[in-house]
Amino acid sequence: MTDLFSRSISYLRLSLTDRCNLRCIYCVTEDESSGCLIKLKQEELLTYEELLWVVRVAVAMGITKVRLTGGEPLVRRGVLGFIRELMRIEGLGDVRITTNGVLLADCAKELLEAGVNKVNISLDSLKPERVRDITGVDCFDAVWRAIETVLKLGFAPVKLNMVVMRHINDDEILDFARMSQRLPLQVRFIEFMPIGVSSRWNVDTYISSDEIMERISALGELIPIQKGQNDGPARVFRLGHDSAGSLGFISPLSHHFCDRCNRLRLTSAGSLRSCLLHDAEVDLRSVLRNQPTDEAIRATLIEAIRNKPRGHQLQERMLRSGSDCHGRMSRIGG
Ligand code: 5AD
Ligand code: SF4
Repeated sequence: MTDLFSRSISYLRLSLTDRCNLRCIYCVTEDESSGCLIKLKQEELLTYEELLWVVRVAVAMGITKVRLTGGEPLVRRGVLGFIRELMRIEGLGDVRITTNGVLLADCAKELLEAGVNKVNISLDSLKPERVRDITGVDCFDAVWRAIETVLKLGFAPVKLNMVVMRHINDDEILDFARMSQRLPLQVRFIEFMPIGVSSRWNVDTYISSDEIMERISALGELIPIQKGQNDGPARVFRLGHDSAGSLGFISPLSHHFCDRCNRLRLTSAGSLRSCLLHDAEVDLRSVLRNQPTDEAIRATLIEAIRNKPRGHQLQERMLRSGSDCHGRMSRIGG
């Protein structure tokens, strides 16, 4: 599947639910954190059968990699059974999961047995109290236990996502960088994006990857690592020659990677979204429910890919007006 700008689309991100057991300040809106959030109804979510059907058609069209996101994918009931079915789809070798880690320790072994050994875990601080302030929940111990568990079980890669915010957690950049020397992890520094209606984003809270790299270079040399085909948009380095792990820099604002973007997203409400930062969506749920044929699904996937914009101008827009993307991260999938 190739879009209008000759990008080959091979990566599908599935948001399994808009629900989450955390309330991260960079993700939820004020309404949400006060608990009066309107969640999707069960019947608005795609069923697991519908999701499997979409993935089967998409894999036949050239999708080779699927990531499960949310919300928090592990809060959806029956998710392990779904993953087992997903892993049986021929031609789909690469299934990964992005999780906040809270429920991961207890199901890591089952995930591994199902064939999923690649995880991204969100962790924005190594200080339990700060984690509570950022996520709204006292969850550091549970997440840390999950990280230890997946490392012990041999998951690879294990990536930790840190959303870097000035005055909130930027004093821990060096601690996170050092952690990559000690543990076989990829620590990923993500530029804070003005997505959704997050009230916390502003030009002062935002820190560019260049600034983060400059601070880290005080610890040692950043040695670029050759990337694999499925490595995504991170720029990856090793900190010094004897690091057990690596560092990744994800720079949606300062070095946008639109020209290499190979992704398509399916939101938890069943809409195909070709760009995280453009609100244009194609409704696949009504196709699945009104014209349930492989051909109709295929045509809808093609339509979504044809609509994939060349790129975003978020950096230009944000400096002028602040947030400009109204989709909700927890519904779209990060
Ligand atoms: N800016 C940057 N990253 C974000 N994420 C969620 N919201 C934002 C934001 N506003 C990312 C985090 C989290 C993943 C699920 O989505 O990295 O780990
Ligand atoms: Fe939940 Fe992830 Fe949003 Fe945090 S960023 S509230 S863990 S969906």
